[in-house]
Amino acid sequence: MTDDPNSQSRNEQSSFAMMCCAHGAETLVKEQIANEGWRLAFSRPGFVTAKHDQPKRPPTGVFIRTAARSLGSAKNDHSSVMIQKLQQAIAAETVPFDQLHVWPRDRTAIGRFDFEPGIDEVSAAVADEIWSALHDGSASNGPGLTCARPNQIAENGQRILDVVLVDPSQWFFGTHEATTLPTRWPGGVQPIEPAYEPISRAYFKAAESVAWSGFDMRPGDLAVEVGSAPGGACGRLLELGMQVIGVDPADMDPRIADHPRFIHYPARAGDLPRRVFRGAKWLLVDSTVKPDATLSTVRNMVDSRETSFRGLLITMKLGEYENAAHLERWCNFIRTWGVERLEVRQLARNRCEVCAAVTLPA
Ligand SMILES: C[S@@+](CC[C@H](N)C(=O)[O-])C[C@H]1O[C@@H](n2cnc3c(N)ncnc32)[C@H](O)[C@@H]1O
Repeated sequence: MTDDPNSQSRNEQSSFAMMCCAHGAETLVKEQIANEGWRLAFSRPGFVTAKHDQPKRPPTGVFIRTAARSLGSAKNDHSSVMIQKLQQAIAAETVPFDQLHVWPRDRTAIGRFDFEPGIDEVSAAVADEIWSALHDGSASNGPGLTCARPNQIAENGQRILDVVLVDPSQWFFGTHEATTLPTRWPGGVQPIEPAYEPISRAYFKAAESVAWSGFDMRPGDLAVEVGSAPGGACGRLLELGMQVIGVDPADMDPRIADHPRFIHYPARAGDLPRRVFRGAKWLLVDSTVKPDATLSTVRNMVDSRETSFRGLLITMKLGEYENAAHLERWCNFIRTWGVERLEVRQLARNRCEVCAAVTLPA
């Protein structure tokens, strides 16, 4: 294992990748990619680089938030020197970059000291400086950068220049093509500006899960949330124009409780008759309950003539990252419900938990 990806000899057949994940999830990322034949190189909490001896696309997986073909790195206290090194690192690229994404690795675990992932002040300032040096007309040589400003949401198929600030004075460079929605977001974090102060951070988690799932949620649809208090996620569903049922023994924030499109059942989900959920199309689950019990409750809600859910967004609380060892078993249990599609991802806004997006047949 070497600590510096630049010290590795690069040849046509090898692949170099850099990945970001939640602070604490890097062990799982390393385990996964090592099993796929990647040799681990430099890493820090929330950031992993690796080499493969064959031509390979950068890895994807439940805990991999971003992945890029690695182009090198730079370490210096002066940004002008770092930008020169970036220009050298991309000099061999022949096709212009459509977008520039610059973000920091996660400084700590999500939620700890109120930490949230995404672009911070330093990376925003670095992004501006890099963009000024590279955008078309500024760069004297190199592939060029065509975007009007940095850190915009990419279009599908666009080629993105990625710069990860592992520390403010240590940057890693890479490139990826935008394919799925999270690969279009800078640093894999959904850019979202709520119209009103969210009631809880679950607002962002719900917004991300809804967008990532691709579920065709429409105004007027009926959605249920289990584990709904105080109401951040319900706030997002109401904002999207849906009718919402919240199930939680705890109190809802009055801004949600008094909303004309909201009904609260102050109960545990398993204690309610299933007819309560009649007509509901979407189910979100975010209760502080272990995944085995959560899944058993959801199965009982789904497996009924009274209900006709089309899509489920289930937060599975791991508690500890070691519990990811049960993921396969949980997924296999979900598959026994006759699902059309199942996808699992640690969302950027997930703490030590993952989100399962489940599509059920009509
Ligand atoms: C993380 S909080 C949910 C945050 C919420 N989704 C939001 O948007 O603000 C977890 C909630 O799960 C609730 N809960 C725990 N067990 C439950 C159960 N069996 N049924 C329904 N809610 C439950 C707790 O009362 C707690 O309010």
